[in-house]
Amino acid sequence: MKVLLLGSNGQLGWELQRTLPDNVTLTICDYPKVDFGSTDSISQCINSTEPDYIINAAAYTPVDKAEQEKELAYRINHLAVLEISELCKENTISMVHISTDFVFNGQNFKPYQPDDTPDPESVYGKSKLKGEQAVCKILGDKALIIRTAWLYSSHGNNFVKTMLKLMKEKPSLNVIDEQIGTPTWANGLSKTIWIALEKNLKGTFHWTDAGVASWYDFAMAIQEEGIGIGLLDQSIPILPVGTLQYPTPAKRPMYSVLDKTSFLQATGISPIHWRVQLRSMLKEL
Ligand SMILES: NC(=O)c1ccc[n+]([C@@H]2O[C@H](COP(=O)([O-])OP(=O)(O)OC[C@H]3O[C@@H](n4cnc5c(N)ncnc54)[C@H](OP(=O)(O)O)[C@@H]3O)[C@@H](O)[C@H]2O)c1
Repeated sequence: MKVLLLGSNGQLGWELQRTLPDNVTLTICDYPKVDFGSTDSISQCINSTEPDYIINAAAYTPVDKAEQEKELAYRINHLAVLEISELCKENTISMVHISTDFVFNGQNFKPYQPDDTPDPESVYGKSKLKGEQAVCKILGDKALIIRTAWLYSSHGNNFVKTMLKLMKEKPSLNVIDEQIGTPTWANGLSKTIWIALEKNLKGTFHWTDAGVASWYDFAMAIQEEGIGIGLLDQSIPILPVGTLQYPTPAKRPMYSVLDKTSFLQATGISPIHWRVQLRSMLKEL
């Protein structure tokens, strides 16, 4: 199986390379060689590699900055994805596209199903939804879309690494306890993607690690686990605060737990609890 990976420098892209199955021949094509801002560079990359599959792990991901850089966010998360989908259709290439819990407004009281109505409130979420819709319109049931949430990895910048840094520098921390979701180790997601590819799964699905947490719960766990394995010397007070006390340019979903049932049934994979995954990732640091 020949797979072209876009976005290999990102958290997920890096984990996909680490977990590469033996039967996959992987080509990576990265920024600036492939720039999602340039139609030509995308088509050159795809035409020169002739893959069976494209995994698109590239995206414009700075959620708050997207509120200012709207055009760029739409170019990368929507228009480039549309162009990749068209090239996939022309060349009979299957596509795996990664999307986000931010396509939902977060007003649910139970985990979001893949076919629940999206209603993003941030530029990032809106641009990612447009990308998903382009994939569905052009490739229909020939594409796999996986929505995930709260990704972190030992590679790249994320909440876990930011918290560890702040816990070493600050006397105390305020962390939001009103937003609920599921922390997800990109390593687990990458293994899941390879299994889905092997099974030739198509459609829109959800995947996160198991369990539910607030950012406050997540920060508390990072501190406890960090002390447990010697990454941190001492504990500092971590105080739960409301969203109003920590205003950000982009509005985030208050509740974005994703229902994974259909994905679990289709693949037979069992998710691992986020705290166990967090421990595994911290041991790598
Ligand atoms: N991070 C999260 O919490 C989260 C949550 C839910 C869903 N997701 C989705 O999961 C996927 C993977 O996320 P991630 O956290 O691994 O993202 P990431 O670490 O921010 O990596 C994004 C990748 O996109 C590439 N990229 C950015 N602009 C580009 C451009 N103009 N042309 C070509 N490549 C470009 C980056 O290249 P450079 O490194 O060279 O800039 C990088 O390789 C994305 O679709 C994201 O929307 C992420």
